[in-house]
Amino acid sequence: MKITNCRRLSGLAVALFLSGPVTSLAAEPGSDQTLVERGRYIVTVSGCNDCHTPGYGLASGEIPESLWLTGDRLGWHGEWGTTYASNLRLLAAQLNETQWVSMTRTLKARPPMPWFNLNRMSVEDSRAVYHYLRALGPAGETAPSYLPPGTPPTPPYIAFPTSGT
Ligand code: HEC
Repeated sequence: MKITNCRRLSGLAVALFLSGPVTSLAAEPGSDQTLVERGRYIVTVSGCNDCHTPGYGLASGEIPESLWLTGDRLGWHGEWGTTYASNLRLLAAQLNETQWVSMTRTLKARPPMPWFNLNRMSVEDSRAVYHYLRALGPAGETAPSYLPPGTPPTPPYIAFPTSGT
């Protein structure tokens, strides 16, 4: 009996020892629920969905989470040309955490992307957003490409007033 118990115990010790590498596998992007929840909270209150999720504002946020941050075909047209809110889920799927954090803190983009606000996001918050995006996983299509000034966009688009007119 005692010997059997002993064997069980050593089996347990081996299992605990082996769980070391298993734990690091569990640290796949998007697997840390605390970070993921925090990321969901940050993207919600910091307004990323307002532009990066199709129809979000008009639906008062009642858009299935499966579609969140998949980018939008709605153009933003002004003196800078026409921009489209990118598919952040496809983007995050291509980047590791370090690349994402560094991009969010250095990004310069065209209007109306509030890159100057995003640059100020803390490393911890940016990490959380990354893990949330990875937990959602890649979905949707790439947003339409940027159009330079003078190239008329096809609807739907929002036209900003141009200065001097
Ligand atoms: C007012 C609309 C708006 C809001 C709000 C907004 N974005 Fe954007 N975002 C855009 C647009 C439009 C672009 C494309 C800009 C361009 O083409 O230069 C963009 C681009 C980006 C890019 C660059 C993507 C790439 O492929 O280079 C990142 C990253 C990004 N947004 C993240 C965020 C995050 C994170 C938030 C929330 C904190 C957010 N955005 C909020 C409109 C918005």
